[in-house]
Amino acid sequence: MRKVEVDLKPRGYSILIDHDLKAAFGQFIRQADFSNRALLVSDTNVGKLYAEPVADLLKQAGLSPDIYIVPAGESSKSLTEAEKLYTRAIEAGLDRHSAVFALGGGVVGDLAGFIAATYMRGIPLVQLPTSLLAQVDSSVGGKVAVNHRLGKNLIGAFYQPQGVFIDLDFLSTLPKREIYTGLGEIIKYGVIYDEDFFTFLENNAEAVLALEPAATAAIIARSCMIKAKIVGLDEKETGLRCILNFGHTIGHAIEKDTHYVRYNHGEAVAIGMIGAAHISRDLGMIDDAAVQRLIALIRKLHLPTQAEGCSLDTILATILHDKKTINGKVHWVLMNGIGRVTSMDQVPDAVVRRCIKAVLAV
Ligand code: GLY
Repeated sequence: MRKVEVDLKPRGYSILIDHDLKAAFGQFIRQADFSNRALLVSDTNVGKLYAEPVADLLKQAGLSPDIYIVPAGESSKSLTEAEKLYTRAIEAGLDRHSAVFALGGGVVGDLAGFIAATYMRGIPLVQLPTSLLAQVDSSVGGKVAVNHRLGKNLIGAFYQPQGVFIDLDFLSTLPKREIYTGLGEIIKYGVIYDEDFFTFLENNAEAVLALEPAATAAIIARSCMIKAKIVGLDEKETGLRCILNFGHTIGHAIEKDTHYVRYNHGEAVAIGMIGAAHISRDLGMIDDAAVQRLIALIRKLHLPTQAEGCSLDTILATILHDKKTINGKVHWVLMNGIGRVTSMDQVPDAVVRRCIKAVLAV
């Protein structure tokens, strides 16, 4: 079993990574100071496969869980769904020591996390991420949120879980495209922090795509280690943590402008990373070989390198209204090399236009 610590005293926690985490999960619950009423939140896709078995584990460990299943999909990350969940929590008699278990991908983790952060001013949260994307990103680091009709993740909090259990067995039922989207975020960790990890992905792409156990455990653990390190240094994103947004400025705009239908998150981030790499090269921060290396790895891991169905002007307008843009200044995360990034808010408009155009298919 691999264990990654998020060093955030007194809110630190462990991320456990392995196949079949039942025993470790049971032991964690028995040792935790939870009261016996608990809420297990999942969605219609994951819940039908895993909600009952996980509820049984909770019961064996002495808890009385209520299962709450939300419709699968982004629309469940809403205040409307949150309100229903509060009602269920109150009716189920959850108290201030009751735990919320988030069993699912990013939508479930963010929504259940938001409930845990706000119900009775905060109750324990345990993340059981089932998608690769949630395992390497959203379940770690404490960002929880729901969407507003005017924008994604606009209502939320930093609220750390008490534990993250990454059971690799969940990946066996994940559609291939969901694996690729997770790989988009995994490539990002190599680019922002760790050239050796980037090289590992280049050299082991086949094992990674086939989800070979050793390679899968290694890339998830390395991603979590990098994220844990960054979050440990800057929990509330006052500085360093913004490097986790590499590729997301253009990526979010692509997702939004294609109505969150054509591209999923990791795909849009992959294209956004290439756009940011083009900007970095045009500013003389990296050479073209680094851009081509990134494009080659993204292709190798079955991710898109250009966005279809977007207009340059709409993308530019969306970037200006992004929540990462402050006082009209876009905070770009740009590359100094593979494994090294920096943030910059003075990028000439002409460079931005040219480089975004380069990642739009016409
Ligand atoms: N997904 C970016 C962050 O957690 O900061």
